Parts: sequence; C-alpha cells; structure tokens
Amino acid sequence: MSYVSALRCRSCGREYPVEAINVCDFCFGPLEVVYDYDAIARVMTRERIKAGPLTLWRYADLLPVDATEAVDIGAGFTPLIRSKNLGKLLGLNNLYIKNDAVNPSYSFKDRVVTVAATKALEFGFNTLACASTGNLACSVAAHAARAGMKSIVFIPGDLEQGKVIGAAIYGPTLVAVDGSYDEVNRLCSEVADNYPWAFVNINIRPFYAEGSKTMGYEVAEQLGWRAPDHCIVPSASGSMFTKIWKGLHEFESLGLIGRVHTRMHLTQAEGCAPIVEAYQAGRIHVRPVRPNTIAKSLAIGNPADGVYALRAIQESNGTATAVLEEEVVEGMKLLAETEGIFAETAGGVVVSGLKRLAQQGVIKPDELTVAFITGNGLKTLEAVASVVKPLLIKPNLEAFEGALHARA
Ligand SMILES: Cc1ncc(COP(=O)(O)O)c(C=O)c1O
Ligand SMILES: [Zn+2]
Repeated sequence: MSYVSALRCRSCGREYPVEAINVCDFCFGPLEVVYDYDAIARVMTRERIKAGPLTLWRYADLLPVDATEAVDIGAGFTPLIRSKNLGKLLGLNNLYIKNDAVNPSYSFKDRVVTVAATKALEFGFNTLACASTGNLACSVAAHAARAGMKSIVFIPGDLEQGKVIGAAIYGPTLVAVDGSYDEVNRLCSEVADNYPWAFVNINIRPFYAEGSKTMGYEVAEQLGWRAPDHCIVPSASGSMFTKIWKGLHEFESLGLIGRVHTRMHLTQAEGCAPIVEAYQAGRIHVRPVRPNTIAKSLAIGNPADGVYALRAIQESNGTATAVLEEEVVEGMKLLAETEGIFAETAGGVVVSGLKRLAQQGVIKPDELTVAFITGNGLKTLEAVASVVKPLLIKPNLEAFEGALHARA
C-alpha cells in the first residue's frame, strides 16, 4: 500500500484523484503527489529503514506506489564515497561523492523509472514510454523488459553511441528524432494524447519525479542521519534538484534527521544553461535557450521544473553555476584521475562546478559537501576519446622503452 492521498497542482493548489495525469485543468500547473505524512510518521523509523532492502525501496513508505509489486532491478543505495584526493586538491576536507553511475542502467534515472514503471503497472498500462536525453531511454527500456512491458523510447538523433546502444539492447522500439530534446518532448506530448501509453516523464511524471527524492534520503542516511552543508547537482529539467531538496526536508519533518541547513548548488554547461542564466539575471522564470553542449544529457533548453529549481536555490541560499564547455571534459578527467570514478559529461559539469565553488570560497574547507555523480562515463566515450591516448607500440622491449621515454 502507499500513503498517497491525492494529486495537487503546484500552482493553484487544486486537488485531483490519483490517476495518470500531470497538469492542472484550470491553470496548466504541474501536479504533485500528496501524502498522508501523519500516517507515514507513525510507521517510519530509522530502524525500519535500516531493516529494508539495499535499494531505494528501503524508503518505500515515502514513495507513491505499492512496493510489494515493485519493478525492481536494484536501483539505488549506491555508494557515498569519502573523497581523499579530489578533496585535498580543492582544499575541501569533508567532500563526498554520491556515485549514481553504478545504478543498474548506469544513471540515476533508474530511481525515477523504477517508481514510474511500478505505477504504470498499477494503473494497468502495458507500454512504458519516454522522451529522453539518453539515460532515461536506457532505464525505461531496461525496466520495461523486467516488467514484461513493451517500451517505446524517443531520443534526439545526435546522441552518443553508448546511450543509443545502451537503450536498444533491452529491445524497445527506439525512435531517434531529427531534432532537439525540446522538439522530442513536444512530439511525445502529442503522442501521449493519442496512444494509451505510460510516458514516464509526461502522464506519469508526478509519480516518476518522486523517485529522485531517494538521493536526498540516501545521502542523509549514509552520512549518519544528517543533511550535508552543500549539495552540488547537475540539472536539465531541474526536477532532480528540487527532489533532493524535498527529500531532505521530508526526513527533517519526520524527525529522521535534525534541522536541514543544506545549500543547494545547481550546475549546467555553458552551452545549455537556462536555469543558471535566470538565476544570474535575478529572474524567477526561465527563458528557453537552444542547446549546444557536449553535456547532451543536460541539453534541455526549456526546463519543465526550472521555476521550482530557482525557488529551491532561493530557499536554500544556494547558487547556480555554468561551466565552460571545455571544463566538462576537464572535470571528467579530474574525477577519474583523482578518485577512480568515470562519470559521464554531467559528472564533468558537477566536478568543474564544485571546483569553482571551492575556489570562490562559497564552500568552506570543513563544510560537509556532496557532489552528485549521476551518470556513467562509458556512455559518453565520444566526449573524452580524443584526450586519452594509449601508447601504440611494436611487440618488443625497445619499442616499449622508446615509447615510455617519448611520453615522459
Ligand atoms: C546523467 C544525468 N544527470 C542529470 C540529469 C538532470 O536531470 P533533471 O532533468 O532531473 O534535472 C540528467 C537528465 O537527463 C541526466 O541524464
Ligand atoms: Zn492549477
């Protein structure tokens, strides 16, 4: 059973029944899940969580589905790693890396999709669908396979091979669209109106988005039941950013952790930074941009949750940072070379954003800081292929020593 009582418009507050809908009929605002927190508070304790599975389903009481029927391939409860070397390099003594690159389909999207797929089955759908910048397509196809559902995933035509093949392998109908993500998304909204499919990030979005709260819960639990001082998060639609913030606050109001004083820092790449631009201009609304960035997973020019991400920045006294395109690859290399973690381009954005925040003194040396690595570098090999070269030699000692010498 779940503790969901209704859906509610985030804009005008009107309530709706729990159905596969995502926008308010009156004001077109996005719908959000409403929980019976009093009932949750009566059952949810640290002990109950600790006795749960080593996946995000240990937080099932705070998810909008019946977990006994979960479409589960093991998403969540990923490592929170104390940084030794990167922290030292950046002058940060309390830096942690949340490594979501090791999820079942190699990105944090498994968190949202395991919830969405479960809800879609609950609603009686037999087809799972999405509009994706790449990682979501992989995760939807994987979870649909597990659930015995059909899947149809839409992606922009210019994605990295790792994402195209990484999705196709699970057997979906994979549709590559000659257009940007924003065009793919617009098309999918039309398709969703015409076909009886569960589009995880359209008609199932209120439920789907809740899966990202578990990143906040996990970090708090893994830090010994406390919230960090800083979270550094990569953003596209802005959804995950808002949900990490929400997750920390839910834990606080349930008494599972103390007062949350976390500052939320949003990062994007220069070539697609509409939320950062709004933040810097002091606007509360986001002006759409045309993306042109190496960080393709973050290439959403018209972010659905941009307004709410700006609000979370403001509420948390956070910041928003855009890194240069060349800093994306630098960040990927830096993380790999210092901590042994191969992140995708979104991780490069986070690490370079973190570096700037440390240099600017926004993050103080002893403050507890978590950098969120949300996707795996093996899916974006193209981004780094030209900057990492093997020594190519003939099979003899002389050639080896010659090459070694030349390289030194
Ligand atoms: C690896 C990775 N990180 C971060 C994000 C951003 O997520 P959101 O749209 O919730 O801001 C995405 C979105 O596709 C992603 O693939
Ligand atoms: Zn409304």
